[in-house]
Amino acid sequence: MSSSPIRRIAISTGGGDAPGLNAVIRATVLAAENRGWECWGVRDGYQGVLAPEQYGGEGLVRLNRARVSGIAHLGGTILGTTNHGDPLRYPVNQPDGSVREVDRGDELVARLRGLDIDAMVAVGGDGSLAIAYELAKRGLRVVGVPKTIDNDLERTFMTFGFDTAVSFATECLDRLHATASSHHRLMVVEVMGRNAGWIALHAGMAGNAAVILIPEIPFEIGRVADHIRRREKKGRLYTLVVVAEGAKPVGGAVTMQGGAPGQADRLGGIGEIVGRDLEALIGRETRISVLGHLLRGGSPTSFDRLVALRFGAAAVRALEAGHSSVMVSLEPPHVRYQPLEAAVGRMKVVSLASDTVATARDLGICFGD
Ligand code: F6P
Repeated sequence: MSSSPIRRIAISTGGGDAPGLNAVIRATVLAAENRGWECWGVRDGYQGVLAPEQYGGEGLVRLNRARVSGIAHLGGTILGTTNHGDPLRYPVNQPDGSVREVDRGDELVARLRGLDIDAMVAVGGDGSLAIAYELAKRGLRVVGVPKTIDNDLERTFMTFGFDTAVSFATECLDRLHATASSHHRLMVVEVMGRNAGWIALHAGMAGNAAVILIPEIPFEIGRVADHIRRREKKGRLYTLVVVAEGAKPVGGAVTMQGGAPGQADRLGGIGEIVGRDLEALIGRETRISVLGHLLRGGSPTSFDRLVALRFGAAAVRALEAGHSSVMVSLEPPHVRYQPLEAAVGRMKVVSLASDTVATARDLGICFGD
């Protein structure tokens, strides 16, 4: 707890964008202004502080009521974001072309202090919140706000961005349903979600998929094929198959795509493999769609907007109450605070004992197990 008064706060958005980020920014700024605090936005995660020269010296932007007017419904983040430039492992190019990682965490905290920033609202997923936790240990007053379309963050019922991603994936499944049923085809849809199956499970159920493959339940392709054959015997000559990008066969590994030079490998490609294998096993024409980053864009649903607005305002209330190193969290119907330490370092995956999975099984949905 810190009792020193706050006059000026900053907000940063880090990691992959998610619908609702701008709503968090708006609520944070308005709640801060209503308390007479100044609010500044850091450009591109922490880049605006660590490399202000990239922004002509304007690495922080003053955020006020006018600047955040009419943004709550917009996807992306007006501040920009990055999944590079971790201040604790900051990449520095070496003369020989290699990259060395240096810890600039203390420097970041000192620079923020030099800018008279009293506290930080850090909006991000597990990576950004782990950084926020470390910065808090080094003396920064910080409140985290959980964001990710993947919904894989511990200690919050839901992250904002997830509902928008699920809604869009469901709409895509509805559209694909038309072609699947008209052409009697197998339609395989790969969705994001990293190593958690939340998007696949929720969208697959809402969108009438007969097969849902998620990382939490390694699949056997033969069992999936058997399930589709049984459907066909009953006259259902088309099938929607939803595959989470992190889904893997029993005893197998997740499928990765090689990143560009200097970038990490990314998940992706399992939809193609599942589609090709099923076409060979069933002998039915198959099409594969990868929704990818389409799931991250677009206008946040009203649910995500409201959660994001509540999170932004709650972050300011937490700072006002003297909290630091906490994350706002949704515990329906409440927004509460959780220690950052407890929220990072563990992934929230689909519980096989959940009623959602039980419901899917009751509906006859096949998980390939
Ligand atoms: O964490 C959000 C997410 O969209 C994941 O679902 C996906 O695996 C990853 O980010 C993609 O990251 P990038 O935008 O770097 O390709």
